[in-house]
Amino acid sequence: MGGDVAAGEAAPGEVAAEGKHVSHASRTHVITHLPGDGVGPEVTEVARACVDAVAPRHDFHVDWRSCSLGGKHYLATGEVLPDAALEELRRSDAVLLGAVGTPDVPPGVLERGLLLRLRFELDLYVNLRPSKLRAGVGSAVGKHELSDLDFVIVRENTEGLYAGAGGTVHRRTEFETATEESLNTWAGVRRCVRYASQLAQARSGRLTLVHKTNVLTHAGDLWARIARDVAAEDGVELSYAHVDAACLWMVDDPRRFDVIVTDNLFGDIISDLGAALTGGLGYAASGNLNPDRTGPSIFEPVHGSAPDIAGQGLANPAGAVLSASLMLAHLGEDAAAAELDAAVSSVLAAGEPGTTGEWEKELLGQLANGGTS
Ligand code: IPM
Ligand code: MN
Repeated sequence: MGGDVAAGEAAPGEVAAEGKHVSHASRTHVITHLPGDGVGPEVTEVARACVDAVAPRHDFHVDWRSCSLGGKHYLATGEVLPDAALEELRRSDAVLLGAVGTPDVPPGVLERGLLLRLRFELDLYVNLRPSKLRAGVGSAVGKHELSDLDFVIVRENTEGLYAGAGGTVHRRTEFETATEESLNTWAGVRRCVRYASQLAQARSGRLTLVHKTNVLTHAGDLWARIARDVAAEDGVELSYAHVDAACLWMVDDPRRFDVIVTDNLFGDIISDLGAALTGGLGYAASGNLNPDRTGPSIFEPVHGSAPDIAGQGLANPAGAVLSASLMLAHLGEDAAAAELDAAVSSVLAAGEPGTTGEWEKELLGQLANGGTS
């Protein structure tokens, strides 16, 4: 991979190997690091260091590749996602993404051209977003016990209103009409609900469908029928909440939720609420998953590139480290994943560090003794 490229340097839009490591680990995972823009590089550096810190103890080795795509790269080259770069990404076992976006790039260019295109091309049909309240974070809602707020949102990630169906006619006249159509296929909904239902089996056995079936009757009927069938097949207990009521309950009575399955846009919105309830976007992790493993999955903190604080050493790397934890779990490294997760909790419980550097030092200190002190 990247045969002509010097180790450590990604040529424009390409994925480069980062040099040869001699390793005696029994498993190697090829992971592409796509740091992107703003705080993306800072927070994913910490996540990488955490992964490398636990790998030897768990007998695996990461063959890191790097990919330079993002806003800066686009401004310099005009490239958003060249086909060659996509093909290189396909060859990794996973991708660790920071954040993409710079203020000078018009809205939609990187969102549709890079992030959504990757989700679609790599068939990342589940977006997994845990919301877990940890000791030491200021929850938006003071009254909750830690055990009250620990749910996972399974967001459908390739269809719905994100599919790109629709258009504009009579542009720039008073009859201008813009449509965005929500696409919901039986197969697409079913595979996402199946993933959620199996996750519910592995957790509490409780699954909640969040939708708006009283208004979106066509898509709602499809989702409700599929959820009923899949939950019955998997023997999980299914409940239902309209998306507006779900927002209220997430704040007011989050114990109702364990695994939530929902469509793309609802999942986008309620996962930001879940993040706000569990300390803020800085702590929110996500996995864009291809559960069928026909290609790599992409793991990224939910926060964006935060250009206002970039380069100042102030970014909170917790969301990136927790995303790396989801990545390790996806790669089958469950024990290592649990150590990263526990390290974040331990650092927080001891008092939240104020800088990215302090975070890194504290995390690596925790990981030196197995994630919990
Ligand atoms: C997210 C983001 C993206 C989304 C944007 C940047 C395309 O908000 O990952 O939640 O809407 O999915
Ligand atoms: Mn979002």
